Amino acid sequence: MPTNTQILLDHRPTHKVSPANFRIVETPVPTPGPGQVLVRHSFLSLDPYMRGRLSDAKSYAKPQEIGAVMGGGTVGVVEASNNPRFKLGDAVVGMGGWQRYSVSDGGSLRVVDAKTIPIQAYLGPVGMPGVTAWYGLNKIIAPKKGETVVVTAATGAVGSVVGQLAKLAGASAVGVAGGPEKCAYARSELGYDICVDHKSPNFVAEMKAALPKGVDGLFENVGGVPFETAARLFNDFARVAVCGAIASYDGAPPPALNLFQFLVKRIKVEGFIVSDHLALWPTALAELAGHVAAGRIRYRETVAEGLESAPEAFIGMLKGRNFGKQLVKLA
Ligand SMILES: NC(=O)c1ccc[n+]([C@@H]2O[C@H](COP(=O)([O-])OP(=O)(O)OC[C@H]3O[C@@H](n4cnc5c(N)ncnc54)[C@H](OP(=O)(O)O)[C@@H]3O)[C@@H](O)[C@H]2O)c1
Repeated sequence: MPTNTQILLDHRPTHKVSPANFRIVETPVPTPGPGQVLVRHSFLSLDPYMRGRLSDAKSYAKPQEIGAVMGGGTVGVVEASNNPRFKLGDAVVGMGGWQRYSVSDGGSLRVVDAKTIPIQAYLGPVGMPGVTAWYGLNKIIAPKKGETVVVTAATGAVGSVVGQLAKLAGASAVGVAGGPEKCAYARSELGYDICVDHKSPNFVAEMKAALPKGVDGLFENVGGVPFETAARLFNDFARVAVCGAIASYDGAPPPALNLFQFLVKRIKVEGFIVSDHLALWPTALAELAGHVAAGRIRYRETVAEGLESAPEAFIGMLKGRNFGKQLVKLA
């Protein structure tokens, strides 16, 4: 009898997440009931938002329940179906969680074309991270030709798409990434005009040198020193899409803001959560799929092997060890 490996939240982290916060269990593979679908997962997505859900502090989403399977995006194949919308062998994307199989009533499952685009891309550039990039860049920053857009975590799942969309819109794209390898990739593969290494001892001076015309748009994923440095270089009427603050998720203090400069430069700052904008997802996904299929949007993945590797891979991602979209290969 095949079993379903599952990872549960055992207890909440008090400071940094550790593998001990999770528990691995084996359970029987579930049988789909009337109207339900059984999905065998091929890939699990690991995302920074999961760190927030480990805490029970009030937030925009419900906390992860203790003793329950960790939530998360998955792609996989329909293995059994009692739902007329899905047939055996369909490639689907959904929220199957940190487990090898899941049963769903189909409400949050979407059939995808895994022939022209690899199935795992639906967890990356043609999935939630891609839509996040699309929304923040187009609806908040809205770059004009010739403007300069700065992107932090520039080679990550979200940032890599932001930089490429900014270039397609005719803007200059300046990335901030951790280390020379990520910066070289940002320039040569993702098309950033310049990439500044936030680990460099001369980071602040290098940012100033990279931004002689100032900053018109900032797509903020990280917080901390890169944010504070870019903020000092804002042009009048710059726009900031506050997408994430990953530097603070595992305990570090959030950056200080100089409100006065936001006033005198008339800066627009807008935080957003991509799931608030579900009506725009079909438009964004169609555009992103077109760019990916045509090779105009390129992407990179870090793939951990086997569900058991998920906790370590998740902790590594929170420390910036991933290079591109962090996935776990399950089948
Ligand atoms: N608002 C929304 O709806 C929404 C949706 C999806 C994601 N997000 C946010 O978007 C951001 C990027 O998410 P993603 O999925 O694309 O992740 P990601 O960029 O693929 O991975 C996280 C990256 O953050 C960077 N980083 C920089 N400083 C860091 C620090 N002090 N500690 C840890 N990592 C640091 C690392 O890249 P370097 O090595 O290059 O520094 C790391 O690889 C996150 O803040 C996430 O919460 C928001």
